[in-house]
Amino acid sequence: MGHSIKRKEDPLLIRGRGHFVDDIKLNGMLFLDFVRSPYAHAKIKSINTDRAKALPGVVAVITGNDLKGLGLDWIPTLAYDNMMVLPTEKVVFQQQEVVGIVATDRYAAADAVTLVDIEYEPLPAVSDPFKALEKDSPIVRDDKGTNHIFHWEAGDRALTDKAIADSDIVVKQDMYYPRIHVSYMETCGCVADFDPVEGHLTLWMTTQAPHAVRTVAALVTKIPENKIRIISPDIGGGFGGKVYVYPGYIVATVGSILTGHPVKWINDRSDDQPSTAFGRDFHMSGEIAAKKDGTITALKIKTISDHGAFHGDANPTKFPVGLFSIVTGSYDLKNAFCEVDAAYTNKPQGGITYRCSFRVTEAVYVVERMVDVLAHKLGMDPAELRMKNFIPAEKFPYKSVLGWTYDSGNYSAALKKAMERIGYADLRKEQEEKRKKGELMGIGISSFTEIVGAGPSHDFDILGLKMFDSAEIRIHPTGKVISRFGTKSQGQGHQTTYAQIIAEELGIPTEDITVEEGDTDTAPYGLGTYASRSTPTAGAAASMASRKIRDKAKKIAAYLLEAREEDLEWERGRFYVKGSPSKGKTIQEIAFAAYTNHPPGVEAGLEAVDYYDPPNMTFPFGSYICVVDIDRGTGEAKVRRFIAVDDCGNIINPLIVDGQIQGALTMGFGTSFLEEIKYDEDGNVFGGNFMDYLIPTAVETPKWETDKTVTPCPHHPLGTKGVGESATVGSPAAFVNAVVDALAFSGITHVEMPLNPWKIRKALEEKGLALEN
Ligand code: CDP
Repeated sequence: MGHSIKRKEDPLLIRGRGHFVDDIKLNGMLFLDFVRSPYAHAKIKSINTDRAKALPGVVAVITGNDLKGLGLDWIPTLAYDNMMVLPTEKVVFQQQEVVGIVATDRYAAADAVTLVDIEYEPLPAVSDPFKALEKDSPIVRDDKGTNHIFHWEAGDRALTDKAIADSDIVVKQDMYYPRIHVSYMETCGCVADFDPVEGHLTLWMTTQAPHAVRTVAALVTKIPENKIRIISPDIGGGFGGKVYVYPGYIVATVGSILTGHPVKWINDRSDDQPSTAFGRDFHMSGEIAAKKDGTITALKIKTISDHGAFHGDANPTKFPVGLFSIVTGSYDLKNAFCEVDAAYTNKPQGGITYRCSFRVTEAVYVVERMVDVLAHKLGMDPAELRMKNFIPAEKFPYKSVLGWTYDSGNYSAALKKAMERIGYADLRKEQEEKRKKGELMGIGISSFTEIVGAGPSHDFDILGLKMFDSAEIRIHPTGKVISRFGTKSQGQGHQTTYAQIIAEELGIPTEDITVEEGDTDTAPYGLGTYASRSTPTAGAAASMASRKIRDKAKKIAAYLLEAREEDLEWERGRFYVKGSPSKGKTIQEIAFAAYTNHPPGVEAGLEAVDYYDPPNMTFPFGSYICVVDIDRGTGEAKVRRFIAVDDCGNIINPLIVDGQIQGALTMGFGTSFLEEIKYDEDGNVFGGNFMDYLIPTAVETPKWETDKTVTPCPHHPLGTKGVGESATVGSPAAFVNAVVDALAFSGITHVEMPLNPWKIRKALEEKGLALEN
């Protein structure tokens, strides 16, 4: 614990010896490609596959009607909705998969795609969720008859309205969190291999949740669960986008069943980007009220959420909008209310991907923006306003008005540290002086609270599957370890950090510990890796399983040392007799005895499994400060400095945590300044490939400065909290607050993300601040 050891997984990956889905090559393997819809909404009048079938190399052509015969044209989503696998009646978003072609090589499959003749009758499309909720809107889902998916609310509306009415100051602000794509390096894909003799399916796939997929696959296909093996090999980034189930996985499986050959499907980038799950697309209207002295009295948020054509978010059942009710953030508020109406539109499914723990990103963004809008209205320093309203450190555990019990926190310490590191007071002086000279600089703060580690089974399940997670540890006779987990790393470094946890608990060197994940035939059941849940759940399970092993090891040690158990002391890696430190047995000696000389009445072997059901979520937090300089000519906002002070409790591996934070900051930067997928009125997609969808490269990315405070989690066995998403969740508000802070003196209260030069220049022009040359 606490050591920056280098990642065990890297030597393979940097030598190009990783094993990704596309590296799998099986005898007789065929390839799947898709005909995709050019329309966002259109009736399918006819599909003629004759010309495609006649192309040499084409082995099978699969349509929605073929799937219908198998009961697989629609499948359940992870949110109790249904989604089309391949359409039979109509298409519902542009680039939707319509017909699958299975051929002997990728090129033949791609050629045959151009030979399928489909007659469409275009229908009016709806790409705006506000319009989708109007009475006369085109209906996306004929099976539902409405575009309204659900209404959800939290808090007390009447009390919040009263508190707002009784307040000295009320400010309102609308803001849109754009639709973005995770843009993982490896696109989605799979290899499906159905053995007709055994009736056994092996599916190598890019999934972050292999066990859940296996259970759902067994229920949907009726293939017995013991005859389905899901393997997630190395994954080139998931960020939530690989939790969803995509048509490619199903059609490849059907292709393998129909042809008797393994079938590989790998999305091209320009197929993947516009058809797989998106993040955000949240339209929020905020209202915040305060007394004249800056005491915040109420917060109210109304939201329209755009889910595309299928509601597929892997949100816990109880929380259709994820954990959006963390929207009171780091503040001690007595009154709050939030509501969400969700809409179907002619876009692909999505909402909670992009390193976002269940809508916490949107919640943090809106509250941190609203606090800044209020500060500017009050004429109060945004740091001072935050300090005044933070939940005081002595109030933890803290029950929020919207129902969460925050485990631990010290928000003012984190903000204070960030302010000291960046030289806040001097920056404010500099800003004032610059403004006198006509130069624009802004300072943006975000003091966020995250909620990760889903989750306690009394509140958290996905499709009924409780969200515990697991670890299995076996110590071999020579003291070496194999450990397996229900989670699945996609670059987070679990092979290293899980080994560190076991090393901490058992005193076995990390190099003697193998960590495996992602194979449902070998790993214990778990709900997978997303939403920064791995360390709070499976990481805790690793501790608990190690402790079970230690308990048994003590019995064996007592036998070997001819001592009573209660007379033994543990020091890392060794039991010794109290008062005689030299009389002891190492864990390696004990392991050998477990197989060669175990005590009578005690089972041989040294292993344990733990299914850890966390008692609460963990609440990491942090304070970020961003400094931007704005070019009044071009409208470009340049990030001059960015300090991130994070607190994720006790840290297992500081190097990995720093890597997680730097990567997540870069994603937050991309969201704030560059990325967006847009649709026109007809549902045509813009930003569906890397020509149009800009992600940050090393050239644009600012230099990140990171620091920490440590406030241990009181209920995790090692005092740790999750961290993977913190910086993506926390940083956008800091960027936007910085840009608005530079402009606020002119009356500007908000600029929408992405903060591209065009938008900022437009805002400058409106206020007469733009320079002409
Ligand atoms: O679920 P996911 O792995 O994406 O997120 P996480 O649990 O926040 O962990 C991300 C990585 O940071 C893992 O390798 C963790 O073990 C590591 N970590 C750490 O070293 N110390 C912490 N307090 C939290 C996470």
